[in-house]
Amino acid sequence: MNKIIVYCRPGFEKECAAEITEKAAAHNVFGFSRVKDNSGYVIFECYQHNEAEQLLRDLPFSSLIFARQMILTGELLRDLPSEDRITPIVGMLTGAIEGAGDLRVEVPDTNESKELMKFCRKFTVPLRGALRKQKILLGQEKPFRPVIHVFFIAPGCCYVGYSYSNNNSPFYMGIPRLKFPSDAPSRSTLKLEEAFHVFIPADEWDERLGSGMYAVDLGACPGGWTYQLVKRSMMVHAVDNGTMAESLMATGQVIHHRADGFRFEPPRNNVYWLVCDMVEKPARVAQLVADWMVKGWCREAIFNLKLPMKKRYEEVSQNLTLLREQLKENHVHSEIHARQLYHDREEVTVHVRRFWSAVPGRRDER
Ligand SMILES: C[S@@+](CC[C@H](N)C(=O)[O-])C[C@H]1O[C@@H](n2cnc3c(N)ncnc32)[C@H](O)[C@@H]1O
Repeated sequence: MNKIIVYCRPGFEKECAAEITEKAAAHNVFGFSRVKDNSGYVIFECYQHNEAEQLLRDLPFSSLIFARQMILTGELLRDLPSEDRITPIVGMLTGAIEGAGDLRVEVPDTNESKELMKFCRKFTVPLRGALRKQKILLGQEKPFRPVIHVFFIAPGCCYVGYSYSNNNSPFYMGIPRLKFPSDAPSRSTLKLEEAFHVFIPADEWDERLGSGMYAVDLGACPGGWTYQLVKRSMMVHAVDNGTMAESLMATGQVIHHRADGFRFEPPRNNVYWLVCDMVEKPARVAQLVADWMVKGWCREAIFNLKLPMKKRYEEVSQNLTLLREQLKENHVHSEIHARQLYHDREEVTVHVRRFWSAVPGRRDER
């Protein structure tokens, strides 16, 4: 197996290919990407045998922006006989992996694949049984073992491979399934909820998304993001000239400031979260978040960067570099991750966590 499949949002294959090629090269793994527009995936083929496996281990999945999933695979299996699709799939995995903890039979996230997905659901049951019989898959699901992926790109035509559970997306097809809460004021509430699932480990939610925390929401109206914070019993300063949903104001947990988000200063010094969904130039938003972090005005931030029409990967990389450099220059120890979420369209979502500032007393300086 010397290929990596990366799932992505259809229409973003070129960005995904540019990213995997660049980041693999930074790990001294060289190869080329096969891209088909609007297919929802990219195949990265390594020049050297065995390097794809090394990449699967060493390239942190969390460092990828346009990838929804990252899998090691071999040649495409074509024309699987309808009377026995299982034998060639088991054959592909035999010797490559044993004792996997989970099986996912998946498709690209395209309209054309919707029909195929019905087949995948049915096919999972007999395939699971066959893989267990050969001990390729363990008898019970084990979250810390590798995951087997069978990725159908057309009827009778699939890639077969695996991902490591400590370096993959835990979600089927790389997409967290979220239900729109009927009392939320806007659909964009799902973006922030997805960001929490992607960026904050589940066992840290109580500590980092806990009740009683203070948050600032810049560009808050009508309140889809504020809704997520209020639902977790936080107190929210919502900044926007627009109108906030009555239902949120009635909770008593929200203070609405009709102000410019770029000039707003937090009214207290224990704000934990900054979230920002203002539609603005990405460089301006990145600079704003850098300023908040450097001034020690918040601990963690989640915000959107709108993508340009062209050179989308380059633009987003530049903005992230700007943010990283500013934090470094100001001795702010932090972690930055960005991802094009399922609920993002022409944008990516960025998460910044500040651990500590090397400059003592910085918060008192403002
Ligand atoms: C995409 S909407 C936010 C949706 C919101 N996150 C939600 O879930 O309901 C963008 C908002 O940013 C606000 N906005 C744009 N520029 C702003 C600025 N400079 N200061 C404050 N709000 C701003 C707009 O008024 C608009 O309500």
